[in-house]
Amino acid sequence: MTSGQALPQPAYTNIVRAEKLCVSFGPVQALTDIDLAIGRNDIVGLIGDNGAGKSTLIKALTGVVRPSSGRLYIRDQPVDLGRYSVRKAHALRFETVYQEKSLGEKQPLWRNFFAGRQIVNRFGFINVREQRRIANEILQSHLGFRGVGIDADSTVSNLSGGERQGIAIGRAMHFDADLIILDEPTTALAIKEVQKVLDFVRWIKESGRAAIYIEHNLAHVHALADRLVVLDRGRIAASVRPAELSLDALTRFLIDLQQPKAGIAA
Ligand SMILES: Nc1ncnc2c1ncn2[C@@H]1O[C@H](COP(=O)(O)OP(=O)(O)OP(=O)(O)O)[C@@H](O)[C@H]1O
Ligand SMILES: [Mg+2]
Repeated sequence: MTSGQALPQPAYTNIVRAEKLCVSFGPVQALTDIDLAIGRNDIVGLIGDNGAGKSTLIKALTGVVRPSSGRLYIRDQPVDLGRYSVRKAHALRFETVYQEKSLGEKQPLWRNFFAGRQIVNRFGFINVREQRRIANEILQSHLGFRGVGIDADSTVSNLSGGERQGIAIGRAMHFDADLIILDEPTTALAIKEVQKVLDFVRWIKESGRAAIYIEHNLAHVHALADRLVVLDRGRIAASVRPAELSLDALTRFLIDLQQPKAGIAA
């Protein structure tokens, strides 16, 4: 594995590829036989009903939950699933902007920003001053929070939903992620804040990165994604390009999925 230092990128076809990936939580089989490949500059919109398995899938791809079977390849290399972890996913430059309330609530921002990958000096002590300085720089340069009373010492619990998403996005930019995963980043945001998140997804694409974008707002995801992957009760029900399926047709497809299957009734 690399030391976390950015190395010249070798050529690879897929940033991540899952093959027959299954995840179980006790008796609940949350994901079954997921085959999914994400290319280097792919924006994949992941959609599906509540409980379809969207969050579980990104957790399996980022080392948060361990698949019960199947294979995972990162930059075309097989991953040892028994040893895969969140820390390894960070080192591989995967960043996740989690569904609400994910940032440590009681922590100051500078600490939260570096959670799981502190800057240490040569004696192994955390370099608080440097972390504060970088956190302030990101807040001011990337996120435009100057003058609104937010600084590196602000407590996460005092931030609005949009500000929290902004922090998570700033972190993804700072750590120069290759794959950015957004789990419903616009939920409960005001219109202006939603626009900022959508601009960020465009920036991911323009800067040559890849993203998995989970979104309930079909118009947003249909407009932004290169590919739409529909999950239904833990399985992939469809994988299409937006150009092949209009927003109306996509909406109807999702509504049909929710209908009880013909033949089962009676
Ligand atoms: N830690 C867990 N323990 C037990 N069951 C879980 C756990 N996490 C998820 N599940 C179950 O797995 C299934 C998929 O959940 P998941 O959170 O992936 O859905 P989702 O598609 O992200 O839904 P939503 O749109 O509501 O966020 C659900 O049935 C859920 O109850
Ligand atoms: Mg979810």
